[in-house]
Amino acid sequence: MSEIMRQLEETVAYIRGLVSEEATTGIILGSGLGNLSNDIAVEKEVSYNDIPHFPVSTVLGHKGRLIFGELGGKKVWVMAGRFHYYEGYTAQQVAYPVRVMKLLGVKTLLLSNAAGGVNLDFKIGDLMIINDHISLFTTNPLLGKNEEKLGTRFPDMSEPYSKALISKAKQIGAENNIVLKQGVYTGVTGPTFETRAEYKLIHTLGGDAVGMSTVQETIAAVHCGIEVFAISVITDIGIREEENTITHEEVLQAAKDAEPKLTLLFTELVKSL
Ligand code: HPA
Repeated sequence: MSEIMRQLEETVAYIRGLVSEEATTGIILGSGLGNLSNDIAVEKEVSYNDIPHFPVSTVLGHKGRLIFGELGGKKVWVMAGRFHYYEGYTAQQVAYPVRVMKLLGVKTLLLSNAAGGVNLDFKIGDLMIINDHISLFTTNPLLGKNEEKLGTRFPDMSEPYSKALISKAKQIGAENNIVLKQGVYTGVTGPTFETRAEYKLIHTLGGDAVGMSTVQETIAAVHCGIEVFAISVITDIGIREEENTITHEEVLQAAKDAEPKLTLLFTELVKSL
């Protein structure tokens, strides 16, 4: 057995020792967006530190817990806090929990993140459904020997984000007066926010938002056949001529302010699955 499968099986065996119930939906919550976990009827919660082969999250605003519970009447696996490439993990480590979810039986993955807006129509607090991505300066999590048990060597990436889930989300948005933008998420390594020239470049390349997560998780999910829905909270506008400084604190605050809309959307989406 390959090293990656051996590790995954040990991780899953540990988790299965705590939770024997099944859930087909997984959720990964982004920076400042961990409070959705308060709406979950938690049945089991485990710190990442205690899970064999799980990396440990270090960034401010991330809680670092794997939760099993109920949301919108459905059982869910939730990762409150994710791993970022900028923390020093490899792309494979960043994607590891997605593969764990696959082996736990997850079929649909909902992702949230905080992102900088580069679409001139966006404002802080907007929610943007990710309908495609550009992996700009990020490393692909599938580099290295392919694990055929997980997926094919050269996965198609023509529709990483499920059209069916996007259309469901739009319907939920319309029914609940939640304005939803749509656009292309550009994944970068961070941890620096972009220079003015980089924000302009991303805009020129066709990006609508830019962030430091999600792309690697999505690639790993598509590789192993998990359906993905992802959404960005626009926490800053990167493309202003003047006063274009951006701080982590304002990103977290803007994420927190927009969180109730996102929580409602995710809850309704899970209900509809
Ligand atoms: N750039 C990159 N990542 C981000 C940003 C940004 O402006 N805002 C939140 N995450």
